[in-house]
Amino acid sequence: MFKINENYLKLPGSYLFSTVGRKEREYKEAHPEKKVIKLSIGDVTQPIAPSIIEAMHKAVDEMGHAETFHGYAPDLGYEFLRSAIVNGDYKARGIDMDIDEIFVSDGAKCDSGNIQEILGLDNVIAVGDPVYPVYVDSNVMAGRTGTYNADTGMWSNVIYMPCLEENGFAPTIPEQTPDIIYLCFPNNPTGAAITRPELQKWVDYANEKKALIIYDAAYEAYISEKDVPHSIYECDGAKTCAIELRSFSKNAGFTGVRLGFTVVPKELKCGDVSLNALWARRHGTKYNGAPYIVQRAGEAVYSEAGKAELAGQVAYYMNNAKVIKEGLAEAGFSVSGGVNAPYIWLKTIDGMSSWEFFDYVLENAGVVGTPGSGFGPSGEGYFRLTAFGTYENTVEAIERMKKLIK
Ligand SMILES: Cc1ncc(COP(=O)(O)O)c(C=O)c1O
Repeated sequence: MFKINENYLKLPGSYLFSTVGRKEREYKEAHPEKKVIKLSIGDVTQPIAPSIIEAMHKAVDEMGHAETFHGYAPDLGYEFLRSAIVNGDYKARGIDMDIDEIFVSDGAKCDSGNIQEILGLDNVIAVGDPVYPVYVDSNVMAGRTGTYNADTGMWSNVIYMPCLEENGFAPTIPEQTPDIIYLCFPNNPTGAAITRPELQKWVDYANEKKALIIYDAAYEAYISEKDVPHSIYECDGAKTCAIELRSFSKNAGFTGVRLGFTVVPKELKCGDVSLNALWARRHGTKYNGAPYIVQRAGEAVYSEAGKAELAGQVAYYMNNAKVIKEGLAEAGFSVSGGVNAPYIWLKTIDGMSSWEFFDYVLENAGVVGTPGSGFGPSGEGYFRLTAFGTYENTVEAIERMKKLIK
């Protein structure tokens, strides 16, 4: 008789954004006359930039001719893309990186969920709280997290690092020593960033404890401040303790196109076992590569025209972030984030819980956000808004929300 992976039964409720989506649908069905503005899921709204579309068209045409047709992609990704990544994201920042340390994939969600597969089940993970839900849920599925306490919203075998107002929404080194540390900067959901000296402390700590950092830099394109690192490898010694996850979803609008990459340095070892070799083995066995057309699109992200067009898109979203942050602050909300990240993290009002505030904002302003508690127990009492909407919708949403404060 077959058996299921019972770890899946331990997962509480449905995926956060499924619940948000269901509530939004139900509200729209009950109020078809109302215009609901969605500033919840971190999905982009601007179209793919012209030079990237051009590169994709060219690649599509190549696929139609025997001489230029491409079948299965190389395991780690095409060299043209991995070279563009190494030069554009690393060498340009003074970081030495080999193309064989770059593993192209179809996005950071899969990689952030899959990466734990090459790590032992007895590792103890530490996460920021609140946190992008995939890190914890994928470890639950693997059976690494112990038991769930519905009252606290915590797993017995996970170290939670509260990210609160008093620590600038950045995790502090925990008392209990973790084996694996998930860090995400700029952060989803709080929009907080980390300075280079602060990140260096984590790198030094990980090297000292022989812990592994999984560093999610999906939002690095939104960094506007000088002392905020774009990559963990800007810190000394990061190559012996950190894996970096990157995505083309937020910098280039590839949420539907799908492309990302993971960096596993060759110096990263557990004893004498290379994590680069393990991930290469996993990638080769379980993954058949991002499409050629998409990898050509990714290459165009690093072209001069691509860079200029995408800088314009990032500026567009960050102007939305400013509209949200300044508008809500002016109205009397307590807000943070939105400077190095496209997320604004705000405190609920009148002591409402995150879900109470979600319903309140939907009912009274017709705006959909994301309840902070969905990202972890320390997110309770907070609410996340994204800057990924259109400018017009963002302005309208904030005008409506301002009226919520009497
Ligand atoms: C922190 C973080 N990492 C990864 C992802 C997923 O990226 P991708 O679209 O490349 O799968 C998201 C998406 O919202 C995210 O917020």
